[in-house]
Amino acid sequence: MTAVTEGSAMDTAEVFDRLRRHFSPKLALTGGFAGRGAVEVAAEGCRVRLSDGRSALDFGSYAVTLLGHRHPAVAEAVRQQLEAMPTATRSLANPVAAGAAARLSGYLGDALPKVYFGLNGADVVEVAVKLARLATGRSRVVAVRGGFHGKSLGALALTHSPLYRAGLLGSAVDVVHVAADDPAAVWREVAGGEVAAVVFEPVQGENGAVPLDGAVLRQWCEDAARHGCFVIADEIQCGLRRCGERSVALADGLPVDAVLLGKPLGGGVVPLSALLCSERLYAPLAADPFLHSATFGGHPLSCAALPAALHAIEELAGHGEELAGWLDEMLDGLRARHPEVVRAVRGRGLLRGIDCGSPQAAGSMVVELAGAGLLVSPCLSRPTTIRLLPPLVAGPAEVAEAAELLDAALATTGRTLRRGGAG
Ligand SMILES: Cc1ncc(COP(=O)(O)O)c(C=O)c1O
Repeated sequence: MTAVTEGSAMDTAEVFDRLRRHFSPKLALTGGFAGRGAVEVAAEGCRVRLSDGRSALDFGSYAVTLLGHRHPAVAEAVRQQLEAMPTATRSLANPVAAGAAARLSGYLGDALPKVYFGLNGADVVEVAVKLARLATGRSRVVAVRGGFHGKSLGALALTHSPLYRAGLLGSAVDVVHVAADDPAAVWREVAGGEVAAVVFEPVQGENGAVPLDGAVLRQWCEDAARHGCFVIADEIQCGLRRCGERSVALADGLPVDAVLLGKPLGGGVVPLSALLCSERLYAPLAADPFLHSATFGGHPLSCAALPAALHAIEELAGHGEELAGWLDEMLDGLRARHPEVVRAVRGRGLLRGIDCGSPQAAGSMVVELAGAGLLVSPCLSRPTTIRLLPPLVAGPAEVAEAAELLDAALATTGRTLRRGGAG
């Protein structure tokens, strides 16, 4: 089969057949519903083009496309690196990785000088926990109920959702999950002396866009520091101005030892994640850089994207505040018009959740919206909630378009609920 391209006579049925045969049949099913039988073939800015000629507004993509698709400056930086030296020898010193590390540390105000680059969020969650264990000689980790930190075995130990942990308990990391609203939780746990690190998302993304209480986090940081435990802010989803700030934790003045970034760090063009941390947390790797390494860590194509991505994010940061204001108005209006479906709206900045009360209602909203031309993301740990993740390049026209499509989908879901379905 030749590649499926826009407007070409191609066999999308074969794409779905291959998905069924080589991946999970459920992926073929959900992709088929969302695209109404068409597949994605191209994208630019806020829009994804489908094989049947339609286009969809992308307010989803699991928080990766903060700069939209194919941001020109990021794509050009990657293109230039592709022409010069796309892969690293890992024997010689690589200037692209070194430059990206300096740029990223400077971007967060040089408070966290040490850097480790991964490809996925889970990579850097695991490195952070590994370093905390090595540096303290302790084994326990305190994480937060509702938190999401990835699905590889080590990161999964920190992820709270039973959906993904079933059958996998007893993994390599000893984790206790505490209530997000309990200021004394860390003090109680660290008193036992075995805790290496406290890990939290300042705004929980997959849990439905839930900002944690700043006062509770401050107390946790103080109690952790008093007992020599590291504090790790997982900002893979909420950082990099998704929620307004470069780092939510640092902007709130929280004395964290590490900030984790990912998703849009490669500008929505290439995969890239990063651990930024203190000298104290990094000490085991400073002593022996081979304690943790990976073949593609600090890949030149990914690192080439980083400076261009940060530059573009900063150029659009002011617009992001305006965009967040339009989202506030839109969500208030939708909640007032559709109280039978919208149980709550949550979130901060460009990370928003609409709680539809049941997984069926939320699922039907995601499919209805995709079919009508608006892509949103479900919440992996809170299936009652759909997530809106607009890119910084969205303008008032895109917000108005999203509002109209959401209004229609909520009305349809409301009618289904009244008839006794999707509840
Ligand atoms: C806060 C947070 N941490 C970690 C991860 C894991 O990232 P990845 O899926 O890139 O491994 C995610 C993914 O959604 C996340 O939202």
